[in-house]
Amino acid sequence: MVKKPTDILEEEHHVIQKVVAVMVALLARLEEGKDVKGETINHVVEFMRTFGDKCHHGKEENYLFPLLGKKGVPMTGCPIAILVHEHEKGRSLVKQLSESGAAYAKSGETAKSVLIKSLQGLVELYPNHIWKEEYLLFPMTNKVLNDKDQKELSDQFEAVEKEIGRDVHKRFEKIAEELAPEI
Ligand SMILES: [Fe+2]
Ligand SMILES: [Fe+2]
Repeated sequence: MVKKPTDILEEEHHVIQKVVAVMVALLARLEEGKDVKGETINHVVEFMRTFGDKCHHGKEENYLFPLLGKKGVPMTGCPIAILVHEHEKGRSLVKQLSESGAAYAKSGETAKSVLIKSLQGLVELYPNHIWKEEYLLFPMTNKVLNDKDQKELSDQFEAVEKEIGRDVHKRFEKIAEELAPEI
């Protein structure tokens, strides 16, 4: 059977969840008073910006949500406006992670509390966000979209992959795999 657009998004969630697990481990180390590598934080930030935001949120915000809007799903309130708001929150937490990670690498202890806060924010936000999409948004999507809509969305997702570069997508899948042993 051909993959549905929601199957593709679910597969990407699995990759994101691997990086969330890395963030959980980083957080545990910091809370135990241990050091973390600045390089690992940089990789997490780069992953969340490119794979998480540009590729994955891009598919959702630029194609899936507007198509659902066209099919009569309300764009205000639950679930779409809440999911968009969570993407924005994620972006600002990743920015905070990037800045506090850089400051931590330079000065150690002083930036540690902000670094811990941004990691806490992200590990709380993402599993919850992914749950809402997989158990509310995606079943609803597959009820609302007909075969023609599904095909249109699949083609748009393909175009996103092409634009970002398939090698880039693969590289970030590899980064997600390799990050855990790095800690
Ligand atoms: Fe999302
Ligand atoms: Fe998602």
